Amino acid sequence: MLRLALLAVLVGVALSQTPAPCITPSQFTARASQYDHKDDQMNRFYVAYDATNKRRAIFEEQNVIVPGRQFREFLEIGSENVMYEINLTLKTCTKIPMRRPWRVYGIPPNATFENEYYIGGPGEEVFAQEWSDRIPLRQREFWVGVFSLNNCYPIREVIIADYEQVNSTITTNFYDIVQGIPNPNDFLVPAECQTAEWAPHASVKVPYL
Ligand SMILES: *[C@@H]1O[C@H](CO)[C@@H](O)[C@H](O)[C@H]1NC(C)=O
Ligand SMILES: *[C@@H]1O[C@H](CO)[C@@H](O)[C@H](O)[C@H]1NC(C)=O
Ligand SMILES: *[C@@H]1O[C@H](CO)[C@@H](O)[C@H](O)[C@H]1NC(C)=O
Repeated sequence: MLRLALLAVLVGVALSQTPAPCITPSQFTARASQYDHKDDQMNRFYVAYDATNKRRAIFEEQNVIVPGRQFREFLEIGSENVMYEINLTLKTCTKIPMRRPWRVYGIPPNATFENEYYIGGPGEEVFAQEWSDRIPLRQREFWVGVFSLNNCYPIREVIIADYEQVNSTITTNFYDIVQGIPNPNDFLVPAECQTAEWAPHASVKVPYL
């Protein structure tokens, strides 16, 4: 009896030590670098995110040659299931049907806690937690997310492809995060999109952000 009680206490302690997923803010902007293991290519983006209104504005950046210069914008309007691809140089716009449902940034409520650690050296730490969609003893992970613990902003996201498609693994790093919506104009649908045509099916590669 005493043994059972002790076991119950130990299990209770173990369970209470597993943290609950934090809640990522619904509005922020970030810069992101994304490595696509299939294309063997690194791309950089500025992202304005507004989960409240299901909008995401993704600006492609080429910051090696001309810092901050923007080439293309992908404007996702989740409530209409549409994404506009805007060529910022030529001011042309095409419509792309969304191939996946609106996606929020954050930790799924039933995610598996993997680890927690400090990022950075002494005096510059950010406390981070790592979560995945692994099901212990049953299924390995296809998604791993690292989030800052204080405010639950994304730090890193890794999508790990199926065994058959090892080349579509994508690693995304988030940085320079700003709270809220500092530039509401990021979400304006430009005039050239009013008459935009649908892009031929699957012809445009959309960043996974
Ligand atoms: C914008 O359009 C021009 C002409 O089609 C093309 O040369 C250029 O690569 C496009 N820019 C981007 C970022 O797609
Ligand atoms: C979380 O729930 C979804 C939907 O029920 C399920 O498909 C997924 O396997 C679950 N993930 C984990 C890690 O239990
Ligand atoms: C991954 O990409 C490489 C290089 O393009 C290719 O040789 C290989 O067959 C690809 N593997 C799969 C599983 O698609």
